[in-house]
Amino acid sequence: MRDINFDEHDEINRPAPERTDFDDLADNLISRRSVMSNGLMFGVGALVMGGASMANAAIPASSRLGFQAVPANDLDTITVPKGYRWQVVTAWGEPMWSSAPDFNHATRGTAASQSLAFGDNNDGMALFRAFGKNLLAVNNEYTNRGIMFGNRDSGLPESADDVNKGKAAHGISIVEVEQKNDQWSLVKDSKFNRRITPDTPMAITGPARGHALLRTVADPKGEVSLGTWNNCGNGRTPWGTYLTCEENFNGYFSSSDENLPLTNEQKRYGISHKDWGYDWARTDDRFDISKHPNEPHRAGYIVEIDPTDPTSTPRKLTALGRFKHENAELALAQDGRVVVYMGDDERGEFLYRFVSDGKYQEGGDNSKLLEQGTLYVAKFEDDLSGTWLALTPSTTGMSEAEICIYTRQAASIVGATTMDRPEWVAVNPHKAEAYCALTNNKNRGKKPNNGGDKTPVGGPNPRLGNNYGQIVRWLPVNQDHGADIFAWDLFVMAGNPTQHSDMYAGSDNIDADNMFNSPDGLAFDSKGLLWIQTDGNYTNTGDFAGQGNNQMLVGDPATGEIRRFMVGPKECEVTGFAWSADGRTMFVGIQHPGEKGNSHFPGGGDSVPRSCVVAISRENGETIG
Ligand code: FEO
Ligand code: CA
Ligand code: CA
Repeated sequence: MRDINFDEHDEINRPAPERTDFDDLADNLISRRSVMSNGLMFGVGALVMGGASMANAAIPASSRLGFQAVPANDLDTITVPKGYRWQVVTAWGEPMWSSAPDFNHATRGTAASQSLAFGDNNDGMALFRAFGKNLLAVNNEYTNRGIMFGNRDSGLPESADDVNKGKAAHGISIVEVEQKNDQWSLVKDSKFNRRITPDTPMAITGPARGHALLRTVADPKGEVSLGTWNNCGNGRTPWGTYLTCEENFNGYFSSSDENLPLTNEQKRYGISHKDWGYDWARTDDRFDISKHPNEPHRAGYIVEIDPTDPTSTPRKLTALGRFKHENAELALAQDGRVVVYMGDDERGEFLYRFVSDGKYQEGGDNSKLLEQGTLYVAKFEDDLSGTWLALTPSTTGMSEAEICIYTRQAASIVGATTMDRPEWVAVNPHKAEAYCALTNNKNRGKKPNNGGDKTPVGGPNPRLGNNYGQIVRWLPVNQDHGADIFAWDLFVMAGNPTQHSDMYAGSDNIDADNMFNSPDGLAFDSKGLLWIQTDGNYTNTGDFAGQGNNQMLVGDPATGEIRRFMVGPKECEVTGFAWSADGRTMFVGIQHPGEKGNSHFPGGGDSVPRSCVVAISRENGETIG
């Protein structure tokens, strides 16, 4: 989201924008529910585009998307519309301090150089203005072994230093960036530059702080943990802090005892005897679950960071639950409580909402707002209504702390809707509505989730073996994000109309020119347009023929129109958004180009492919988004 404060948000919302059928549906929900005895209000076909509720049956001749669509391609570069340009701002391994060496394409660095350099696989990010500076906080989600350790014949971490180099490439990079002669670059040695890694001390906050499940030998009180990793999407608060979301935290734990029995709780979160190849337990035995069984309970949270103070201690927010967090999108309820929407990105897992106990006070001390509140999980009905189900001791039979640690189990107990992998949530700054990318789910209708919950076809997950994904949106009743009832519909079902003529062709707003698969990153710009990034199948063949590399598109929530804005380089994922304060630059993340060995982006030639942040602007200097 752009730098828009909640006052601006309010101003934009008053007077309320023109009403649609969908708004009426939302407003009528409470009364309609009271008269519905049984049966569905709508046929299933009406749930998905073209139904009476959808605003976008016919796309108008005049468009708010003021750029020429970019055709799909499979080039090893970035393609933007005519009249736009792009440049690399910073990339994996760029030194953040002059004491560190330049990135070495032969060795790909050492643990020591990496700890002083921009991390790998940048994902969610946010730009903060402070003290007249531009501070970019960027998640460094994970590493690709074949690239990070491409200097080794095995393509694996071979030495202890290799392991620690990979570890140091994780976490968050906070860098000052500046624009000179129309070029953005990283400011080396800025006093604001900071690396936060899997070894940075963090304070544990919220209901689970000090709980027995969080206590370890090194931290017998369960109050201080080390580090954050697999930081995927992000959020930002109106009080100026950065939120970073721990996603696939499980893939770093292993067991030296291969006969260690796994608990149901470990299995639900994907903790197993083997890690995903990072080998961290080799140099740091807190990642060995046979020695430190509670260590995994200290990951899987959202972490709040003050990007303006490099000496500040990041805070793990257990109140926001423990799962594979994608991003954190904030809104204010009408009474001023803070609402955080959050997806749990795994097949058949859930969509969550947190509502703070306290209220946001502009200029006041809001630092504890995300430490205490209520978690909810979404239940979608086939009649286009939905409810946020509270996760409390009385609804779950679990203690408050247990709900924060075993959030998935709590959500299963209340009967939440299993989703097609909830990725980013974005809230429209001009209207009380939220969107979530449901990226894909090959198991839909075929396999239960890890907890045994069924994944029936229906509601916002309408396709068996969903390989394309969709974006669901919801309107809270009374235009209040604090309300527990909402109306929903699908903004788009991705698909391929050149390969299919059924539901797999996609919704009415998808055609051969704008088709894509696997929506992931979502963000609204200041104009209320929805930017969509993809992390999907880039084979460009079969079901995905004609869709090319991963990409970024723009959608108009009012009309349903979607247009492709950008295509990324080979084998990348496009992820992460930020805008400069003047709106003239859009920062976008290019993650893992060449993850299968077929890219030299951005350096070209024989260079090592590197994840990077790019800046996109208009040649005429006008604003972008
Ligand atoms: Fe890190 Fe769900 O993407
Ligand atoms: Ca993602
Ligand atoms: Ca993803």
